[in-house]
Amino acid sequence: MKNLSFLNGDQMPIIGLGTWKSEPGQVYTAVTQAIEMGYRHIDCAAIYGNEKEIGQAIHDVIEKGIVKRSDLWITSKLWNSAHKYAAVEEALRKTLTDLQLDYLDLYLIHWPVVLKDDVVYPSKGSDFVPLSELPLEETWRAVIEMKDLGIIRHAGVSNCNSAKIEQLIAITGRVPELNQVEMHPYLQQPELVEYCQSKNIHLTAYSPLGSNDRPSRYKDLGPVLLEDKVVVQMAADKGVSPAQILIAFAIHRNISVIPKSVNPKRLAENLAAKEVSLSDAEMEQLYQLDKATRYIDGSIWMMEGSSYTKENLWEGL
Ligand code: A2P
Repeated sequence: MKNLSFLNGDQMPIIGLGTWKSEPGQVYTAVTQAIEMGYRHIDCAAIYGNEKEIGQAIHDVIEKGIVKRSDLWITSKLWNSAHKYAAVEEALRKTLTDLQLDYLDLYLIHWPVVLKDDVVYPSKGSDFVPLSELPLEETWRAVIEMKDLGIIRHAGVSNCNSAKIEQLIAITGRVPELNQVEMHPYLQQPELVEYCQSKNIHLTAYSPLGSNDRPSRYKDLGPVLLEDKVVVQMAADKGVSPAQILIAFAIHRNISVIPKSVNPKRLAENLAAKEVSLSDAEMEQLYQLDKATRYIDGSIWMMEGSSYTKENLWEGL
């Protein structure tokens, strides 16, 4: 499979398995089947509430001799209520315990949004801590320290615009190695891609299929990507599925992609998208679909008394 190369030579398989919205009770089987069929990259996060079950699946496939730990690329993410310098290591250790691992391949700051220590999801303005009080660079310093200690192999961010990344680099001198953001034909983020590529920052596209199973609060946002007429027609013409077109689109941009599925047929279909080749003309047709539509628009962080706004969160608004 095509990989993204890191400066020290480490290789991240370009297709990973997304696990956001994969329920406990389903995710063990999904991760096991995925690894059995050839997935080597699993994207996790503490907030998904399923790392223990994923850890058991990883443990069992290693024990059965299907893969070695070193064959796998495991990513996880630091939640918003653990941004204090002193909280980062504890949060990381909890993730490692749950995943039954002694290191992560990649650890990301999940959002440039800070919540009070005891808040999981905010319900009122006072649940937030402004970045002016707990700047992202404090969290980033702690994450880099985890990398320097070898507990994580690579360090990065998620949901960050170029201004936030520039600030991290300016203050700490350390460049995030990857930025994971929502990305698909309806949200192509050309300026952010150009910025990250100019700094050798890899990108991972989340919600590459449009996350139709996203929580109800996001449901009204945008048309259904998998039903897009151009995507559906292109898939039919090529004898592949719409999901495979969407995954191949990211790969052709050299962007890693983490489609989520808990269904064995769709898991296999998504992995097979690595064989789908798109011509320049087909890529051009897909480039024409950009509508700057976010399915995960960050509105959950916006309420009276919160300092987080779409303007300070996202690129190019
Ligand atoms: P399921 O888990 O039942 O397969 P995203 O990766 O953008 O978050 O999208 C995940 C959603 O897309 C889930 O509802 C998932 O359902 C569905 N899905 C995953 N793979 C495919 C596929 N190949 N074709 C259609 N839907 C898919």
